[in-house]
Amino acid sequence: MRKGKSVAAKAIEGESNDDEAGLTATTKKLLADYNLKYPIFQAAPGGQDLAIAVAQSGGMGAVALSFDSPDYAFKVVNRMINATNGNFYGNYVLSVPPKSLDRALEAGCPIIQFSWGIPGQGVVNKVRHGGAKLGIQVSSNLGAKKALSFDPDFLICQGIEAGGHVQGTSSLLESIEGILELAGPVPVLAAGGIANGKDIRQVVSAGAAGAVLGTRFMATKESDAHDDYKRELIAANGNSTVYTICFDKEPTFASGTWDSAHRVLRNSTFQEWEAAGCPLSGSRPGENDVVATHPVYGETLRYETMSPVTGHEGSLEAMALYAGEGVGKVKDLPSAGDLLERLWKEFKATR
Ligand SMILES: Cc1cc2nc3c(=O)[nH]c(=O)nc-3n(C[C@H](O)[C@H](O)[C@H](O)COP(=O)(O)O)c2cc1C
Repeated sequence: MRKGKSVAAKAIEGESNDDEAGLTATTKKLLADYNLKYPIFQAAPGGQDLAIAVAQSGGMGAVALSFDSPDYAFKVVNRMINATNGNFYGNYVLSVPPKSLDRALEAGCPIIQFSWGIPGQGVVNKVRHGGAKLGIQVSSNLGAKKALSFDPDFLICQGIEAGGHVQGTSSLLESIEGILELAGPVPVLAAGGIANGKDIRQVVSAGAAGAVLGTRFMATKESDAHDDYKRELIAANGNSTVYTICFDKEPTFASGTWDSAHRVLRNSTFQEWEAAGCPLSGSRPGENDVVATHPVYGETLRYETMSPVTGHEGSLEAMALYAGEGVGKVKDLPSAGDLLERLWKEFKATR
């Protein structure tokens, strides 16, 4: 994680750091409110098996529902509810309308979390009437103010260190400072570049209630990331990622592009594009190459935003290999449960 100004932990009355793990009152409250053993949230990607394993092990599981049909989202949430007594959330990126939200709520999704946009009042009302808790990802004071006007149950602050489509434009520790001040008693979780227990301690010491980990959970046994992608993550070092607009094709969008920066591994597609002078869309090397195929998702063209999951075949190294700046600390492929235990041990050892 990038170094930033150290922020004093939130001053909450009765705060105590005297138990074994040295938890702040903010974190203790998060654990109690969400029935968690660890103040660790899985980020949206990774699939249902990972989400179940995380939730069963005492972390917060997550399922990405943005692109699911309403009926499929209903099934996913149902499966989660039947498979675990632990907690989980359904994630929607608001670059597309949350078309499966009604059915996810009907199935009993306990928490809905939005990124890439602030939901409108109508969507917030749906979440509330559906009985779910509400989480919103932000990356700036302005976004936090708007999100807080909807009285969310928690915020996630995403820093530019994050893997995948990156909403944040400044470092996590820089952006979280103002957001914590604005949030007051609303818990704020930190996301971006967090890959070990020491990183989690750093953000909790800065005042975050907990941490959200994406890249680290992709390299677990249960994650649905393709084995080749997992190997690339494990082989990467701290300088392997780049924040770029190189990957932008999104065939499921009406516009055909997803205009966002993202953090990925510097793979062959990126390197060839960079060597060609970073030309604009339409003039990029190998623009229409089919780099991979999948029995369900079909063909993936070079520069598409899809990352490799189980079932993909082809030149998977050339696909968008999302990875956060913490990827250099990812050196193995544990089960999600073992990973959570290890993160917690490292957290406790760092005071
Ligand atoms: C493979 C991958 C896919 C992602 N997909 C989503 C997504 O569907 N929705 C979302 O809100 N964030 C998504 N993200 C971003 C994560 O929510 C989170 O902000 C990020 O992973 C945190 O940084 P880290 O990867 O360094 O831990 C994705 C990240 C990765 C690595």
